[in-house]
Amino acid sequence: MKAAIIYTSITGNTSLLAEVIHDNMEAKGIETDLIPVDEFQNHDLYDYDIVTVGTYSWDNGEIPLEMEDVYEAFETENVKHLSTGVFGTGDSFYPYFCGAVDLFRDMLFVHTNLAVTLKVELTPQDEDIAKCEKFCDRLIHQVAVMS
Ligand SMILES: Cc1cc2nc3c(=O)[nH]c(=O)nc-3n(C[C@H](O)[C@H](O)[C@H](O)COP(=O)(O)O)c2cc1C
Repeated sequence: MKAAIIYTSITGNTSLLAEVIHDNMEAKGIETDLIPVDEFQNHDLYDYDIVTVGTYSWDNGEIPLEMEDVYEAFETENVKHLSTGVFGTGDSFYPYFCGAVDLFRDMLFVHTNLAVTLKVELTPQDEDIAKCEKFCDRLIHQVAVMS
């Protein structure tokens, strides 16, 4: 079983979450690649059993510009085999908290086997770090259910 984490982050909140999820997956014996969005290519989607997406939100809950190709890749490639999860950080000061996570969630639900989502307020705190382990457990469980 192999996993990938495709993520974007400007101020470091989402990349911190990505690293915690990465370390949790590895601790559970799952080889996991961290893929910054600028290194992502569509064919990456065929190399894994599990793919998770990590994104912040901007501009009234929108998906960041650099993540749009990732969103489209899931829509156009054959990704029915994938177990997926989406996580992100946002700021509840804005009216649509973690809107990009919701947008990815809805699309992944249609095109893949969506297992789990996680939203975090700005910098991950201890309670968020704890949720990352559950996030990974749900992903691994989803693969077991599918096989
Ligand atoms: C111009 C701007 C617009 C933002 N819009 C939203 C938003 O609509 N919803 C939200 O939840 N967070 C919004 N945020 C907050 C960021 O998503 C949040 O700070 C996030 O943790 C940044 O992630 P990063 O540290 O990985 O870059 C906005 C931030 C900025 C600077």
